[in-house]
Amino acid sequence: MMGTTAHILSAQNRASSKTMIKRWCLLMWVVGLVAMLATLVVFTLLVATPLVLNSTGCVLPAISSSFSVSPLQASPSAKEFSIIMGVFSTASRVERRNIIRLAYGMQSTDIANVTVRFIIGRPMDRNESLQIGLESHRYGDIIVLDMDENMNAGKTWRFFSTVFEMGVRYDYVMKVDDDSYVRINNLASSLAEESRTDLYYGYILPCANKNPYWGYMAGMGYVITWDLIEWISTSEIVLNKTGGYQEDRMTADWFNEGKKAKHRVSKKPLFYDHPQYMGKNRCPNELVPETILIHQMKSTELWMDVLQHFEGGRFSLNGSTAVGNGSVALS
Ligand SMILES: *[C@@H]1O[C@H](CO)[C@@H](O)[C@H](O)[C@H]1NC(C)=O
Ligand SMILES: *[C@@H]1O[C@H](CO)[C@@H](O)[C@H](O)[C@H]1NC(C)=O
Ligand SMILES: *[C@@H]1O[C@H](CO)[C@@H](O)[C@H](O)[C@H]1NC(C)=O
Ligand SMILES: *[C@@H]1O[C@H](CO)[C@@H](O)[C@H](O)[C@H]1NC(C)=O
Ligand SMILES: *[C@@H]1O[C@H](CO)[C@@H](O)[C@H](O)[C@H]1NC(C)=O
Repeated sequence: MMGTTAHILSAQNRASSKTMIKRWCLLMWVVGLVAMLATLVVFTLLVATPLVLNSTGCVLPAISSSFSVSPLQASPSAKEFSIIMGVFSTASRVERRNIIRLAYGMQSTDIANVTVRFIIGRPMDRNESLQIGLESHRYGDIIVLDMDENMNAGKTWRFFSTVFEMGVRYDYVMKVDDDSYVRINNLASSLAEESRTDLYYGYILPCANKNPYWGYMAGMGYVITWDLIEWISTSEIVLNKTGGYQEDRMTADWFNEGKKAKHRVSKKPLFYDHPQYMGKNRCPNELVPETILIHQMKSTELWMDVLQHFEGGRFSLNGSTAVGNGSVALS
């Protein structure tokens, strides 16, 4: 008898805990649905660039500005020009992308509309697909090119031509490596002084060279104007040679063959290698306030060092600042 009662009781317990679980599940399901709908509505309202699927690339939903957090910005219409920065990344480099998001998300400029996008090749397996899918859903800042991941087999050309076909015109397009840190406002002030057409702007190699009409702009980061993007996307000179050797040298070769890029600007020494970098042919400088781009930021430690230098005063928490009250309690 005792056994039966106990059995019945525990069955009742189980039944009631099952009901509770069911209720809980239902609640969670409703909460999930509401959250999904809310996300959808917010996305529809905020996302300026629609989902674009075309022959060259899968452009995932994108937030219109990466610098909308600063309350100090002038009204957007007062901006003088627009620039898209394509940060070359690969699917697996999740940690670096997260640092870069922080590094660019806390800067702002009144001079330009700045759009930051990560440029990657097709994900190679299900894990990469999921990773990139999750990041796109959360941040909307990834452009997946319709090609296998590569460095010198046409990625740069595919980036330029994909941007051209995306249907949004930018005054400037920048190709930048993910070991380079760009000071956004300094870049914008500097570009404000330059031509809006036929411009090829960056850091002329080799290191000792000071003549921007000889050599080529280093792949660490260079900027070209929209007319050149259009030319690159359609010229037979370029279509004949979209990959095969260093992408940065090839870009200069296109312009030389096509007699393009009348305006060439090298911003040495405001582009430079991080002073801790000891590699061959290094071109270091100190972390000066006018810095536009720091290259060879190979480790998370270096990124934190540089962010500390330029932004630590504004963002570091100290003992008097509350930490850890941001999470929502479950009840
Ligand atoms: C900057 O962005 C705003 C909002 O999208 C737009 O109205 C304005 O025309 C843009 N300015 C430039 C120079 O692109
Ligand atoms: C995906 O990640 C899981 C967990 O790290 C791993 O076990 C699995 O082998 C990965 N699959 C592929 C296709 O890389
Ligand atoms: C393209 O390449 C072919 C073969 O190398 C050459 O004959 C042709 O002149 C090139 N066209 C242009 C526009 O450079
Ligand atoms: C901590 O932050 C407060 C408020 O911003 C500031 O007044 C104080 O000087 C800071 N202390 C240190 C040690 O940085
Ligand atoms: C967190 O919030 C609670 C309740 O508002 C407050 O009592 C507590 O002091 C806060 N903790 C910190 C570290 O500020």
